[in-house]
Parts: sequence; structure tokens; C-alpha cells
Amino acid sequence: MSASPSGRIVYVNGAFGPLETASVPVMDRGFLFGDGIYEVTAVIDGRFADNEAHLARLDRSLSEIEIRNPHTAEEWTAIQRELVQRNGLTEGLIYIEVTRGVAERDFTSPDTLAPTVVMFTQVKPLRTNGNLAKGASVITLPDLRWARRDIKSVSLLAQVLAKRAAAKAGVAEAWMVEDGVVTEGASSTAFILTEADEIVTRPLSQAVLPGVTRRTILRLAAERGLRFVERPFSVAEAQGAREAFFTSASTIVMPVVRIDDVTVGDGKPGPVALRLRELYLEALSTDAMA
Ligand code: PDD
Repeated sequence: MSASPSGRIVYVNGAFGPLETASVPVMDRGFLFGDGIYEVTAVIDGRFADNEAHLARLDRSLSEIEIRNPHTAEEWTAIQRELVQRNGLTEGLIYIEVTRGVAERDFTSPDTLAPTVVMFTQVKPLRTNGNLAKGASVITLPDLRWARRDIKSVSLLAQVLAKRAAAKAGVAEAWMVEDGVVTEGASSTAFILTEADEIVTRPLSQAVLPGVTRRTILRLAAERGLRFVERPFSVAEAQGAREAFFTSASTIVMPVVRIDDVTVGDGKPGPVALRLRELYLEALSTDAMA
């Protein structure tokens, strides 16, 4: 294997190699049609956060769009471990992408295609985050996505546009709104804490991605006797809430202190959001989440 100038080793279809020379064919359907699925798992202190659930969601997303899952969970984990080890990753993300494969461009394709598999790691501070001390601001915008947001599709144009708008506004995240209620963040699940101390997030449906971090946070909250309700909430309700926050593999739990031009609560990161973040990190370091 030739050296990687960046030191990064990626995985493509069964082989580990330098990032700089790794490639996918022009006729890959992921490139031409966004015809593929992805997953992102956090690595913290070398432990894989909620990886089983990420691999289960990968399997489910693939099956919903009729792409054969090329690996068992055990095989995926073994490749992930080798990639993490080859890159010396202790804190950051593992990205997996599976596309329908390579074929002459046509909307339909033979069912016999071998799925394309690409994996790489990204070094990223996760225990710490520049937005934590002051809390994150978010903007709201219309949810322009398709009707199957429960599938973790690589067709992310609406999210890319939402993130561009957020970056232009100088904020950390965009919350997407449909029919008067928040669906979710461009790459995160949205939550509020009401004046009655209820943690609120939308119920799962085809309108949102079933967040893996969401699931663990709700479990940890329930174990501590914190009350939660799964129901939609409006932007106005979130702006008037005691706390707001979002969750994802890459941010864990991020307190929100401003929504558009309205300050949430006292404008400081909320204690419940920060507590849930601690609980998640504690669970990761002590239990079978890895
Ligand atoms: N994004 N909703 C959307 C639209 C997302 O893209 C994500 C994750 C989430 C949170 O899911 P989880 O808790 O399983 O990470 C919710 C990943 C991190 C990404 O696109 O990088």
C-alpha cells in the first residue's frame, strides 16, 4: 500500500487504502442519483457510541430502498474496528455509505448490482464542543425534504441548503418546520423542556429520522424519572420553552439558547440539557452502549 500524505486510510469495497487515491466509479448510482444510504457513529475514548443501533438503522434504511445489506453487523463492526485502528482514531466519527452500485446511467438498474461500500473516519472533538459554553443558536426554515425522512438517504440537498442558511446566519443549526411544527434539525433531533418540566420531542414517523441519540437520551431520561412526551411542538412553543436542545451522534446533546431572534429561557445552556449530555457520556463510558 502506498503512503497517505494526510495519514488517512479509507475503506472502499473490501480494501483499505490511502484517502488520496481512493475512488468510486463515475457511474456509481450514489454519485449520479443519490441512490444510497449512510450512517455516522461517534467514537469517544475509542468506544463506539450506540453502534448496534446505528448498524440496525443502516440495515433498515437499506431494506426500505431495496439495497442488499452487504455485511452482517459483526462484519460491519470488524471493518469499523480495523479502520479506527488504522487511523489511530480515539475521538471522532465513523462514516459508512452504501450505494446501489455501479451501472450505466438509467433510472432503473439491474437487481444484481454489487452495492458500493465506502467508509472513512473523521477526527472531531465530541466531549468538548465550541458551542457548549454559551449554547447554540438556531434558525428556522421550511422543511423542503421528501416524504421518507425516516430513511437515512445520502440525498441531502435540502439539508445542505439549510446548513448553508445556518452558516450565513452565523448559527449552529437549522430547525426545519412543516405544517406549523418543528420536524427536526438539518442533522439533529429537536427537543424542548416545557415549563412543566416535560421533555418534548416529536414522535417517530416517516417525517423524521429515528435518531439513535434521541432513543438513548429518552431511555436515560426515563431511567432517572424525568418525564417525556412525544408530540410535535411549534417554533413559538420552543421559543417560549424553559429549555431547548438538539441531539445527534456528532453533537451528543447541544443546548439551544436562541431560536431565530428569540432568546430561550435565561439565554444560558439549560441544566437539563447539560445533565442529559453528562448522562450520555457516563453511559458510554460504563455500559454496553459501546
Ligand atoms: N445526522 N435528524 C437528521 C436529519 C439527521 O441527519 C441526524 C443525524 C439526526 C440525529 O440522528 P442520530 O442521533 O442517530 O445521529 C436527526 C448525522 C449525525 C449526520 O448527518 O452527520
